[in-house]
Order: sequence, then C-alpha cells, then structure tokens
Amino acid sequence: MCGRVTLEKDFADEEKPKLTKSRQRIPKKPFVGDIDATSFAIAVDAKGKLGWKKNHLSGDHIIELLTEQVSNSYLDYLQQRKISYIFAGKKEIDFKSALNQLASLFPIKTIMLEGGGHVNGSLLKEGLIDELSLLIIPIADGTSNAPTTFEVSEYLQKKPAAHLRLTDVKKLQHGVLWLKYRAR
Ligand SMILES: NC(=O)c1ccc[n+]([C@@H]2O[C@H](COP(=O)([O-])OP(=O)(O)OC[C@H]3O[C@@H](n4cnc5c(N)ncnc54)[C@H](OP(=O)(O)O)[C@@H]3O)[C@@H](O)[C@H]2O)c1
Repeated sequence: MCGRVTLEKDFADEEKPKLTKSRQRIPKKPFVGDIDATSFAIAVDAKGKLGWKKNHLSGDHIIELLTEQVSNSYLDYLQQRKISYIFAGKKEIDFKSALNQLASLFPIKTIMLEGGGHVNGSLLKEGLIDELSLLIIPIADGTSNAPTTFEVSEYLQKKPAAHLRLTDVKKLQHGVLWLKYRAR
C-alpha cells in the first residue's frame, strides 16, 4: 500500500488520468477488476487523481482506495481499465473500513505499508500498524520540508505518540541496519 504522492512520483503510468464523460451513472460500490489476482498494489487515492494505462504494477493487481467524492468519470476510467476499487469514507479515508473491505473482497491477509510519510502517519494514528521495519541507510541529507517516516496532516486529529518494542536488529550489506519493532 502506497500514498498518492509516492505513486504519482514513481509508479503511475500517466501524469493525469485522461477522463471522458461517462454515459451512465456508476453506483458507489466496490468494483473487482480481476477475480483471479493473488497479489496487489493498493493506491491510497482519496480524490481519484492517479493515471494508469494497465491494471497492474509489476504484476500486482491495482486496487484504488477512494472516497465518495470521486467523480463518475474517474470510476468509468478505472472500470474501462479493469482496475479494482473500494470506497472508504466520504472525504477522508476511513482506514479501518478500508482494511476490512480489502480482507473480505480480496485474498489479502497481510499488507506491507510502504509510505510515504502521510499514508504511514494516517494508519499509525488509527493504531493499525502491527510491525515496523526500518532500514537505516548510510546517507546523510539535509533537504528541508521532506516528509519523515510518519506524518500526520494538520487536518487530521493528532493522537498520543505510539510506543514501539524493538524485536530484532540485523546488519546488512553496504552498512545498512534493519530494525524491527512491534507496536505495544
Ligand atoms: N524512504 C522511503 O522508504 C520512502 C517510501 C515511500 C515514499 N517515499 C517518499 O515520500 C514522498 C511522498 O510522501 P508523502 O508523505 O508526501 O505522500 P504519500 O504518503 O505518498 O501520499 C500522501 C497522499 O495520500 C493521500 N492520503 C494520505 N492519508 C490520507 C488520509 N488519511 N485520507 C485521505 N487521503 C490520504 C492524500 O492524497 P491527496 O493529496 O490526493 O488527497 C495525500 O496527499 C516522496 O518523495 C516519496 O519518494 C520514501
């Protein structure tokens, strides 16, 4: 699972989705584009901004996680490409509902949340992260205003900091450290 900004920057096929006016009204119900898929790329895209040419990312079937504010033309765009989608929330994503739907509609038991910081922060705030795997890479960089590992947007209610328990430390090649934590 990745946030809209990360996907737009590094993975989406089109800069902006090329929408056409859809002839019929599409009900705001989940849509499964590939019933045989067994691995998935989940895009957190509340407003329906991501452009795709195909329905998979390196073989992982794409599921768009939308809110109800998404336009009819964007739903038509996804259906034409056989990209799956679910709705969770009116304007902001309700991640608890999203995870329940993902588990009931698709063969999904475990999700690897891969960032960026805002999507990580949204699930952390809801207490939906069980394990944190952190890779420390020996590069120092002073870019200002870059998202950290967890960011909670100002429009979302901030909750107390999460306490984590260190469960494993591994030294990998090239000076990389792999730290594993469980949520307490
Ligand atoms: N170092 C790493 O391992 C790593 C991993 C991944 C990404 N990155 C980097 O992180 C940067 C992007 O991170 P980011 O934090 O700016 O963006 P992000 O988490 O990739 O995406 C944030 C977007 O996701 C949607 N979103 C997130 N939480 C939401 C919520 N609660 N409700 C509704 N929508 C929600 C919003 O989309 P809308 O704005 O469309 O509403 C939001 O702007 C990139 O530079 C990327 O390369 C680094």
